[in-house]
Amino acid sequence: MKVKYVENAPTDPREFDLPENFSPKNIEDIAEIFQTPLTGHYNWDYSDADSRIKKLYELGKELNWDGAIDLDWSKGIGRDEFPVKAELIARLKGPLAALPEEDRLEYMRHDQAWALSQFLHGEQGALLVASQLVSCAPTYQAKLYAASQTFDEARHVEVFARYLQRIHGLEYPVNKNLKALLDKTLTDPRWDLKFIGMQIIIEGLALAAFQTTKETSNCPLLRQLVHYVIRDEARHVTFGINYLTEFLQTLSQEELEDRAQFAYEACVVMRNRIINTELPAKWFGISEEEILEMVATDETQDIFNNLLFNRVMPNLKKIGLLTDKVLPLYEKLNLLSFADEDNDFEVDWADMNKPLETSKEIDIQSEQQLKTSQKFMDQALQKSI
Ligand SMILES: [Fe+2]
Ligand SMILES: [Fe+2]
Repeated sequence: MKVKYVENAPTDPREFDLPENFSPKNIEDIAEIFQTPLTGHYNWDYSDADSRIKKLYELGKELNWDGAIDLDWSKGIGRDEFPVKAELIARLKGPLAALPEEDRLEYMRHDQAWALSQFLHGEQGALLVASQLVSCAPTYQAKLYAASQTFDEARHVEVFARYLQRIHGLEYPVNKNLKALLDKTLTDPRWDLKFIGMQIIIEGLALAAFQTTKETSNCPLLRQLVHYVIRDEARHVTFGINYLTEFLQTLSQEELEDRAQFAYEACVVMRNRIINTELPAKWFGISEEEILEMVATDETQDIFNNLLFNRVMPNLKKIGLLTDKVLPLYEKLNLLSFADEDNDFEVDWADMNKPLETSKEIDIQSEQQLKTSQKFMDQALQKSI
């Protein structure tokens, strides 16, 4: 076993061209240390009343899928195929549309590898937080649930890593904003804060981003992969909402405001994270500031970025973290309109109970969802003109 310790996360993308029969000797782990003060709880009451948390745990056990068996790895796209659907390529504008086709293909391969790499690093964060929660959660059922989530997150890390290595042959380092939020979430001594950061904000946003990937991806394998991940994440977010609603009610007003402020700051960081400034800077020589400015004034981007929050805001409201103090701050970010929206991931037990869908069924869903989203985007754009 070889482990190389680094002070900071790597900054360069990594190309994979591993020989078929490489052995563990070829691998060197790259590790970065973080310290966390962990306050653990034993729990000496193993009685198990029926509850939503128990139901979620049972569902987690029942619906375990195996990325090595249940995903058809032969259905991955080749490197000469566009990673997103043709109708979306047709809508491209700006410098990317002006590139020769070969370069556009290469850019889009890198662009998707960048986005999937952020999913991958986020999943590792979720794995670490879920495992901390096994120790930190004060109740018995939550510990069992967190253990089952830990295994879910391990499988998510596994499938995203495998997809990047096999299909794109590429992996990008963690984006600095995402890393900052992961650091903050993992090292805070208060377990419920870790939980808010990961389960409500990072996972809520990830759900929306996975959904977009399922709609827009040209790769049947990736559509199936994210669909299975989405099913698990819907359970995780539901657990977060149920558990936090009860726990936050036990805090004083001052402690609650603390959590509300943390959630707001996490939203600000995550709003920046979802913008890939690294790739356009490298390919088109546009500076990070210029890209952020372009995005800020681009209606489509703005609607899209805000849409990612349409799962987070109603959940923050539900658990009691949209306090009077932070409301004006969200108003400034233009995010408040989502707070009252119906949240379809609330507790859709019927959906969560369904057996795993086939690749064909997922493809049909993907087509329908893309049509609905495009219609929605067109309407939103019309309204804003
Ligand atoms: Fe996950
Ligand atoms: Fe998760």
